[in-house]
Amino acid sequence: MHDKTSALMRRGIEFLGSDHAILCGAMSWVSERNLVSAISNAGGFGVIACGAMTPELLDAEIAATRALTAKPFGVNLITMHPLLTDLIAVCAMHRVSHVVLAGGIPPRGSVEAIKAYGGKALVFAPTLALAKRLLRGGADALVIEGSEAGGHIGPVATSVLAQEFLPELADDHVVFVAGGIGRGDMIAAYLEMGASGVQLGTRFAAARESIAHPAFKQAFFRANARDAVASVQVDPRLPVIPVRALKNKGTEEFTAKQREVAALLDSGALDMEAAQLEVEKYWAGALRRAVIDGDVENGSLMAGQSVGMVSDEEPVAAIIAQLMHESEHALRR
Ligand SMILES: Cc1cc2nc3c(=O)[nH]c(=O)nc-3n(C[C@H](O)[C@H](O)[C@H](O)COP(=O)(O)O)c2cc1C
Repeated sequence: MHDKTSALMRRGIEFLGSDHAILCGAMSWVSERNLVSAISNAGGFGVIACGAMTPELLDAEIAATRALTAKPFGVNLITMHPLLTDLIAVCAMHRVSHVVLAGGIPPRGSVEAIKAYGGKALVFAPTLALAKRLLRGGADALVIEGSEAGGHIGPVATSVLAQEFLPELADDHVVFVAGGIGRGDMIAAYLEMGASGVQLGTRFAAARESIAHPAFKQAFFRANARDAVASVQVDPRLPVIPVRALKNKGTEEFTAKQREVAALLDSGALDMEAAQLEVEKYWAGALRRAVIDGDVENGSLMAGQSVGMVSDEEPVAAIIAQLMHESEHALRR
């Protein structure tokens, strides 16, 4: 039924141990036991978002996910988490097959610690030079994520990253492409360029099995691509990583929050690291308000530009089947 797509995904499928090389990228608050197990049970590859979880919470989440699926799934760890080493130890204890290191350059020893217990390490890299260095240093696979994506983003579009990275790396390495993928046609295109698979977030955030609040999902169904905007940096001295989310009052509040933090930086009440942490804490809290509490006015509705292609609450299995069908159709065309 989807032989051509599966053939192009072969390396990704072997690497992940799933039926299809389609990852559901970790989404804080959204990618928990229910969505992760549903993705893996449907033949994709689910990834738990550890976010700011403590090692104890991660331990419980992995165990609960295992109880819901016998299929492989991964864990996404944020590199600046102060307890990163302990979190990797929790993954080791559970023999988590794949760990994704996100949010920054993996600190020394982290990839090694994952490989030491037999896990596979997936990393992000914003530039080709860094990607090469990480792969040389032992990272098992790479995710390239463009600025169309939801959540924290880099400045370069997925289409450009794909042209820069895939011709250089795809022959010898497993590379997954993320950001702005809403249909299978796009999956086919990246596979033909040499990608081993793809990662989607936005398409799955409003799936039936997602625990996101009904109001959060409704906001996704109503939104167009142009509503998913990147946050702006208001103070040149306070570098904040842009976040793509649906425009609302919360987006404006973020601008005010930055001014407030910049003033504290000015007065010496906060140093740069503390100021940046303050901004990140704001996002985590705001996302929780929208996803869990359903406050779609003041919370953060992180979403990618592909949100315009999300119109119904569909089961994960139906979304994956549709993506595979569209990809196959595009390849046969
Ligand atoms: C609501 C939301 C929350 C996200 N949270 C995280 C996160 O905690 N860690 C992470 O590495 N990526 C996060 N992402 C990015 C996704 O894992 C994924 O790479 C991205 O959504 C892919 O692009 P797409 O949204 O265009 O499909 C988030 C995305 C969304 C939409």
